[in-house]
Amino acid sequence: MVLDFRALAIDPSWAFAECTQKQTRYLTHGYYTYPAKFIPQLAARLIRELSTPGETVADPFMGSGTTLIEALVQARRAVGVDINPVAHLVARVKATPISPAVLAAEYARLAADLAGERRATLVPANARIDYWFPPAQKNELGIILARLAEIDDAAQREFFLVAFAQILKTCSIWLQKSVKPTRDPRKTPAEPRAAFLRQARFMLKQNAEFWNLLAPSVRGALEAYRVIECADARALPARAGTVSLIVTSPPYVTSYEYADLHQLTALWFEYLDTLPAFRQRFIGSAYTARAHIDLRSELAERICGDLGDGKKAREVRNYFADMLECFGEMKRVLRVGGKACIVIGNTELQKIPIRNAEVFAEQLQNLGLRAQAIIKRAIPAKILPQTRDPYSGKFTSARNSNTVLAYPVEYILVMEKTAD
Ligand SMILES: C[S@@+](CC[C@H](N)C(=O)[O-])C[C@H]1O[C@@H](n2cnc3c(N)ncnc32)[C@H](O)[C@@H]1O
Repeated sequence: MVLDFRALAIDPSWAFAECTQKQTRYLTHGYYTYPAKFIPQLAARLIRELSTPGETVADPFMGSGTTLIEALVQARRAVGVDINPVAHLVARVKATPISPAVLAAEYARLAADLAGERRATLVPANARIDYWFPPAQKNELGIILARLAEIDDAAQREFFLVAFAQILKTCSIWLQKSVKPTRDPRKTPAEPRAAFLRQARFMLKQNAEFWNLLAPSVRGALEAYRVIECADARALPARAGTVSLIVTSPPYVTSYEYADLHQLTALWFEYLDTLPAFRQRFIGSAYTARAHIDLRSELAERICGDLGDGKKAREVRNYFADMLECFGEMKRVLRVGGKACIVIGNTELQKIPIRNAEVFAEQLQNLGLRAQAIIKRAIPAKILPQTRDPYSGKFTSARNSNTVLAYPVEYILVMEKTAD
């Protein structure tokens, strides 16, 4: 049966409209600007209401790791994967509290060294660096990176690498307001050493907050509490029936463009050569040709039919087929009685409604999961002020009059595994 959630009432208790930006960036959540991350309050509430301490919470599309951090804070075990190496680094660092005293000492050494006359630089040989960074910024960033490479302890080194990654945009001529790669020849890029030290000091404070909030039993046995891998959502690092709760927000169709959004970090950390492989495994990738498969959703078939038989129709079909495989993997790792919470909005392509929420619920039901609740939430504009072009479905400027608000509402599908 084709589902239709459009008439569902919005539940205002899930908007978190009262949250300030500071609250949504608490603990380590503000380390890195990761596009399309969800607010921690949402993940925290689902974890609190649908799992108990000691149980395992997973996020197969962890992005910057929001779910994992909230799981650890509530003394749950956390399992997360993402196909993007930048997400993997950021999530790992955000979910790794470091002794504040140890980190402060490393920061003091770093700041002293960077204030001196350093010459060693580490700049990857890639012409794209010159495309984005003026010579002075490139040189200064190279000096910082060379110093970071000297930090022996991996957790501390990665902590400062995330601070470095976070300042790349302001230190480049990437149009500051845009998530898409657009040059702004009139921009005055920030001075790297000052920007880096400022960001590191902010992160030092946030790390201390996280360190103090975590239960000592979790902090002391961190490796037993979390598994964070750069992997595909269709091959989760968890045994069958061991996960109690999944809290996740999947990528959107056409969002493989996201690969480009992280290109500054990928450039400096030399992940760029892994980009083609990453693109191919990205959900809904247009780079894979697959045989015609049953999408297990009447609505999905109808949407693909409405899109005709061009490239977009193929992309949407790939996307729903990929998501079906991800749902199969979620079912495998969930225990009976465990729940998958999928946070997803609907969108448009070529003016055709792409009703992801209804398609996903139908696919999950056909895999044997039961809808325990379908929550419709409004997204406060201050939290997600993105707009999308209704024709291409891609992110676009808010000033373009031909746009629709990306996801003014979204759904949380709470689906329960009732049997193996
Ligand atoms: C909407 S974002 C998740 C954001 C996350 N909830 C957060 O708070 O940061 C979707 C993520 O799915 C990831 N992704 C895409 N294809 C994937 C795949 N095949 N396996 C695992 N992750 C994938 C993307 O790299 C992206 O980080």
